[in-house]
Amino acid sequence: MNSKLDIIEKEVSVCEKCELHKTRNKIVFGKGSHKPDVVFVGEAPGADEDLAGLPFIGRGGRLLDTWLLKYSLTLENIYIMNAIKCRPPKNRDPLLEEKRSCRDYFERQIDLLKPKVICALGKHGFSNLIKMDSKEAFGKMRKQVHYYQGIPVVATYHPAYILRSPSSEVMVFEDFDLLIEVLRNNL
Ligand code: URA
Repeated sequence: MNSKLDIIEKEVSVCEKCELHKTRNKIVFGKGSHKPDVVFVGEAPGADEDLAGLPFIGRGGRLLDTWLLKYSLTLENIYIMNAIKCRPPKNRDPLLEEKRSCRDYFERQIDLLKPKVICALGKHGFSNLIKMDSKEAFGKMRKQVHYYQGIPVVATYHPAYILRSPSSEVMVFEDFDLLIEVLRNNL
């Protein structure tokens, strides 16, 4: 534990800025390369992640793994994290004050990771990166390149959504095609 990222992780591990610290088992900071080409940003840990302290290890995570494998992305060249570091009880949506409390960690984490491109998994991950009207359909954010602090951002569906709607997986592959194209242009 001595990189700047590890120092932030240590801070988060004792964080009590919002109520979520009372119900968490473990914080879920992130996993993967500390010099990633791509950072994937999800919403918040679920039950499995809260117990293990690692992002995307449940059913959704296993689906995400198949997408990564298809595009030859591994934890050696990517990093996976969430907008929120602690599990909201019963997997409810994070509250505004919880998002605000976690914001500083999120910004510092991305700032240190300096990815070439970011992939937002679902609306909550995306809206933490790019301001969007909450009434706007998330699907409209796809198929274009947005920017967070000068870093290109591509949006795709959250694996949990695809588990409920498997026929939409083809759209995830379109988004990953764009992601890889943007990455190649930024290497
Ligand atoms: N869903 C998320 O958004 N993140 C996780 O880590 C797990 C499920």
